[in-house]
Formats: sequence, C-alpha cells, structure tokens
Amino acid sequence: MKRIFSGVQPTGNLHLGNYLGAIRNWVQLQADFDCIFCIVDLHALTTPQDPATLRAQTREVTAAYIASGIDAERCIIFNQSMVAGHSELAWLLSCLTPLGWLNRMTQFKEKAGKQKDNAGLGLYAYPVLMAADILLYKATHVPVGDDQKQHLELARDIAGAFNRQFNVDYFPLPEPQIFGAATRVMSLRDGTKKMSKSDLSDYSRINMTDDADTVAQKIKKAKTDTEPLPESLAGLEARPDAANLLGIYAALAGIAQEAAVIRFAGAAFSAFKAELVDLAVSVLGPIGAEMKRLMREPAYVDAVLRRGAERAGEISRHHLSEIHTILGLLRP
Ligand code: AMP
Ligand code: TRP
Repeated sequence: MKRIFSGVQPTGNLHLGNYLGAIRNWVQLQADFDCIFCIVDLHALTTPQDPATLRAQTREVTAAYIASGIDAERCIIFNQSMVAGHSELAWLLSCLTPLGWLNRMTQFKEKAGKQKDNAGLGLYAYPVLMAADILLYKATHVPVGDDQKQHLELARDIAGAFNRQFNVDYFPLPEPQIFGAATRVMSLRDGTKKMSKSDLSDYSRINMTDDADTVAQKIKKAKTDTEPLPESLAGLEARPDAANLLGIYAALAGIAQEAAVIRFAGAAFSAFKAELVDLAVSVLGPIGAEMKRLMREPAYVDAVLRRGAERAGEISRHHLSEIHTILGLLRP
C-alpha cells in the first residue's frame, strides 16, 4: 500500500505556487492512496512567529486544503504539534544522523545567512524533523517541490541508516512523488525568481484568497517583454516572464505549456492577459471564497484538525512502540 505524507508550513499567505505546485496535486492523490496532509507548525517555529498569526495561518492552510478539495474523511488532515510523536521521533532519529549530513543542507545555509552562530538549533535540525514526519507514518511517497528534494533524500538516508544499524527492514525508503506537469510558478514581477510567501511585493504573487479585482490588477501589472507571444515553445527561451505567464495559463487550464503556446501564438500580451485573468478567476474564485467561509468558522476547522490528530496519533503510537522495541527502550 502506498502511503502519502506531505505538509505545508503555516507561514505567510498561500499563493498560486502553493496551489499549482502542491495542494492541487494532492487532491488527485487521495483517490488512489492513503494520504496524510499535515500543517507543519513545528517547522514554522524554526523562524520567529507571532503566536496569534501562527494560529490564524494554521487555520488558513487547513481551510486551503479543504477548499481545494481534500476530503477530511478520506485523508488525514492535522497540525503537526497535536501529535507528540513527531518531536519524539525527531529526537530518536537525530541520534542516528551524522552532523556531516546536516552540514550539506542548502536550505539551512540560505536561511541561516552569514550569522551561523545565531541560527537556532531547530533550524539546523529542521530536516530531521521532516524525516520524522514522513517515517512516523512509514510513508512510501512524498509529493514535494524541487526545493525539498534534498531534505527527502536525507530522510531516505536516515531511514536506511536505521534499518542497517538495527538490522531490520522497518522503514520504507520514501520516494519523491513527482508530477508530470510539475509546475514551478515564478514571481509576477520577475520571471527568474520563484513566487514566494516571503516576497515583499504582494504584486509578485496571486494569493489564494485574492478577490477577482485583485487578481485582475496583479495579472495586468505582471512583467512582460516587448515582443508578441512566440509561435513555438523554443521561442520562450530567454523570455522568462512570457514563459511564466504561459506556464500559469497551461497549469490552470490543465493543458501542456506547448498547447498554450500554440493557442496564443503571435498574440499581444494584452489579449492573452485578459484570458488569463478570466481563467485564474474562474479557478481560484470558488476556492478563495470557500477558504474565507471556512475561516469564519474556526470551530469547524479546529474539529477537522482534532479528528485528524486523533487518527494520526493512533498510527504514530503504534509505530513508536515498535521503534522503541527495536531501539531497546524498555516499555514495562
Ligand atoms: P512553502 O511555501 O515554501 O512552504 O511551500 C509549500 C509547498 O508549495 C511546497 O511543496 C513547495 O514545493 C510548493 N511551492 C512553493 N512555492 C512554489 C512555487 N512558486 N511554485 C511551485 N510550487 C511551490
Ligand atoms: N519542509 C517542507 C516545506 O517547507 C514542509 C514539510 C515538513 C514537509 N515536513 C514535511 C513536506 C514532510 C513533505 C513531507 O515545504
């Protein structure tokens, strides 16, 4: 049985990149696999968070999952801190993880910046907690974007080290779940930079809760170049902004980028953008509206998380008891 685990941090606004690159793909997985989708609030603590904002954003990500079509009955949806097993397994695995493996992690280097001595231990140990998230449920497949592949590789290495050291075949080595049309959505202000929660300009991204007028404004102002749209895929080379907008169109329409290129071959940006606005609003409008409705019902959202945490907790306790036995921790 294939088991999927993935998570999003409750930090900052969810945007079109999170939707097209992650959440939308998860919706398709739930039909065929046993799926666990987490809101990784403990990971969020590796950078400073305001408590009230953290709470609100945890509910917002939950609302985004549900509004995008993830079924809380079929899948397990919960926030990481509700299942203590994540922290516990992270400790157990940290004792098997050589520092050399963590020193290779590029995300730590980026996030810690030049002042390495001031970076928290949690930020350094972040990938071990992520490995614990996955291995706690013996997940076999993990849908993640490019930026998380190195962390997933580490999770495989840690699983392998555990199995070898204790001469067991306990943890499956988790595989990346790659999507054919894996979409990397770039900034609307700079087609060479990823669309990101942390970009200072709100015009760089389309948020999942943006209303129709805002979406239209942002697409109208999106950076372009002076040429009309190209006649072929090859014509997008060295035109990152055009490539990004056509990629977004294709992803929203559920067609290949080449099909989008053919459709708008030779068109002016203004005509293309008008169609992109209509498409973006038609896809995101209902999801954003449902998210806002759910955020006005925090009691409902909290009940979904609580129920998810109960189900996740059951699997977690079962696996941890086996892990304790393997490690020689006495359970009198
Ligand atoms: P983050 O916003 O970095 O916490 O990422 C949450 C999830 O969204 C991860 O699976 C990322 O790979 C995905 N993601 C974030 N930004 C983008 C983007 N610009 N394009 C595609 N996927 C993205
Ligand atoms: N580190 C991931 C990100 O920032 C989030 C994450 C935490 C995750 N634990 C995970 C993703 C386990 C997949 C599986 O996007």
